[in-house]
Amino acid sequence: MTRSLYVTTPIYYPNDVPHIGHGYTTVAADFLARYHRLRGDDVLFLTGTDEHGQKIQRTAQESGTDPKTFVDEMEPRWREVWERLEISYDDYIRTTEPRHAAAVTKLLTAVYENGRDDIYLGTYEGLYCVSCEAYYTEDELVDGLCPIHHRPVERMTEENYFFRLSAYEDRLLELYETEPERVQPEVRRNEVVSLIKQGLRDFSISRTSFDWGVPIPWDPKHITYVWFDALTNYITAAGYGTDEEKFARYWPALHLIGKDIIRFHAVYWPAMLMAGGVEPPREVFAHGFLTVGGQKMSKTNATGIHPFELIDHFGADAYRYYFMREIQFGQDGSFSWESMVERYNADLANGLGNLASRVLAMLDSYFGGEIPEADPRAAADRLPDVASHVLGRFIDHMDGLELSGALAAVWELVGEANKYLVEREPWALSKEPARREELASVLYASAETLRILAILIQPIMPTAAERLWEQLGFSHTILEAGLGSASWGGIEPGTKIRRGESLFPRLDA
Ligand code: MSP
Repeated sequence: MTRSLYVTTPIYYPNDVPHIGHGYTTVAADFLARYHRLRGDDVLFLTGTDEHGQKIQRTAQESGTDPKTFVDEMEPRWREVWERLEISYDDYIRTTEPRHAAAVTKLLTAVYENGRDDIYLGTYEGLYCVSCEAYYTEDELVDGLCPIHHRPVERMTEENYFFRLSAYEDRLLELYETEPERVQPEVRRNEVVSLIKQGLRDFSISRTSFDWGVPIPWDPKHITYVWFDALTNYITAAGYGTDEEKFARYWPALHLIGKDIIRFHAVYWPAMLMAGGVEPPREVFAHGFLTVGGQKMSKTNATGIHPFELIDHFGADAYRYYFMREIQFGQDGSFSWESMVERYNADLANGLGNLASRVLAMLDSYFGGEIPEADPRAAADRLPDVASHVLGRFIDHMDGLELSGALAAVWELVGEANKYLVEREPWALSKEPARREELASVLYASAETLRILAILIQPIMPTAAERLWEQLGFSHTILEAGLGSASWGGIEPGTKIRRGESLFPRLDA
């Protein structure tokens, strides 16, 4: 049975510079999307940019341009990162697209007209800078002054539309009580539940102080304000308001986000959807934060590492592998260059890379570059059992979003296969003509393990996986083979291997 998976990342602010923290969420989503495609699932994977709002309008003005030109210039800096990281998104949303305005309009109207007064006109009070014509929050101020004009701000009030979030406390609590899997991991769910129990305040969803956004349909001098606009991107791309058939096929989604925006995704968003008569997200999974040298990444303290700095040195495959393997998905983790070199050398160069080059070289030398005729299980020792056990655990971990655990399981097979070579010593067997059959069996089992490994690493290291696959002599793709072909005995004797360059050359610290 084909299952569908709709997986999303947050949409990023185009005026920010992408760093490895943003890369972290997007790589995780890609790993998951590719895994599901390999299983044959019907996947829709979405990422994009969050292009509306006062901040963008203001920054554009400061640089002497209009907001649309500004975001058009900025947005490609995100896509170029995703391209180099081999992010296989199916759709890329920019909130400035007409389809998004259509969805925001539809959702606002549905909520406004739900008969419960869930959107109402109220008074917003905030700190206003007359020169910026914009509101600031207390912590955006510098020494109590406007961060741009360095002049005092005024307490001002303005008429805004509000969303009646306070009416959704009971419904949200009931949702998370009966379907706890909707917010993961558990620590985040507890946080969300206690937040709701403390009482929810209605929030403002419109502004009249700027115009860069989607107008409120029944009162267009009001512009839809940040989160109502941004969150709606997830249903826009699934077809809400433009393609109901698609929407039925993919919604509800799995949202991968950083823990910083859990409140918006697990409190505001499901309430907005309930108010509009739409099912809440299937699951919100909030991962932890990446730190560099123990510090939160930021532009100002030089800890905001651009993904290119690492991709240039390690390659996209190793980049993807390192972050997904090193940090438990859901927990905070720290990045360091040293730990990346160490893991690269241990797991990739010495582990998988070495296994592949040894086995392929021996197939070349002892069998003229062909997979030898052998009984698949003779002399294979524990390998077939370990492979099948690892496959099962890989699937369980991936389905439970234990991304690091899934990779750890795969590397048990790498370790086992390297150990097998040491124990069976094919290089010694090759010197004893009477043991040719045993040699053939050992190399058959080793090549077969490599084949299974190529399939299992495809979602995390798509290029290295295909290269290994090609070296093993296959001409179709791993995706065409599918995860179902990862059971023992699939490689055909007589297959011509095509030894190539080493997959992961060793790096110096
Ligand atoms: N535009 C909003 C999100 C709207 S979603 C409807 C936004 N954008 S952002 O550009 O600031 O990106 C936030 C996301 O980037 C975080 O939720 C997280 O997924 C990722 N990360 C940003 N810094 C991070 C770390 N230091 N570590 C891990 N992930 C981080 O908020």
